[in-house]
Amino acid sequence: MQDTAWQASLILMSLVGLGFSYVAIQSGSRDEDYAPMQKRAYRLRLKLFWALILVFGPAMIYTLTDLPYAAALARSAQDTRTPQVIRATGHLWYWELSESHIDAGQPVEFQVSAADVNHGFGIYDPDMVLVAQVQAMPGYVNTLRHTFEREGTYRILCLEYCGTVHHAMMTELTVARR
Ligand code: CUA
Repeated sequence: MQDTAWQASLILMSLVGLGFSYVAIQSGSRDEDYAPMQKRAYRLRLKLFWALILVFGPAMIYTLTDLPYAAALARSAQDTRTPQVIRATGHLWYWELSESHIDAGQPVEFQVSAADVNHGFGIYDPDMVLVAQVQAMPGYVNTLRHTFEREGTYRILCLEYCGTVHHAMMTELTVARR
């Protein structure tokens, strides 16, 4: 019985061994067939790479320069007029502004800080759309430049949770044409 089992397993192992050898030999000869295919694939990959660069490169530059902050930065860099300076300080839980009347079409520079904890200085237009924002931090003065083209009442809200009355931390700006 043991003899039969031994012979059977020997035959099976030989078959498995033959199978492995067959695959190994086949794959060796196939390597040569792969070479031109690989070359074609690499050429295609190179074409695809350049197509991606040519399509996505300009698309990326175009869309990135059109982002609101990049556009706003470019605009304020071009603007050589002296801005109206407004100091803004965040307190628990109100905003202190050195001035709340703004001339439409004239550049404004907000110098934003905080007296106690971090606040978020966010300016909303009359439709309650956020038009500009900067962090208000104790010990730092962050500058925010914006030119208000549209007349109306703008709101300044706090954009960073700063305690129980955070939601009521609101003040107004009046933009009018002179
Ligand atoms: Cu100040 Cu939230």
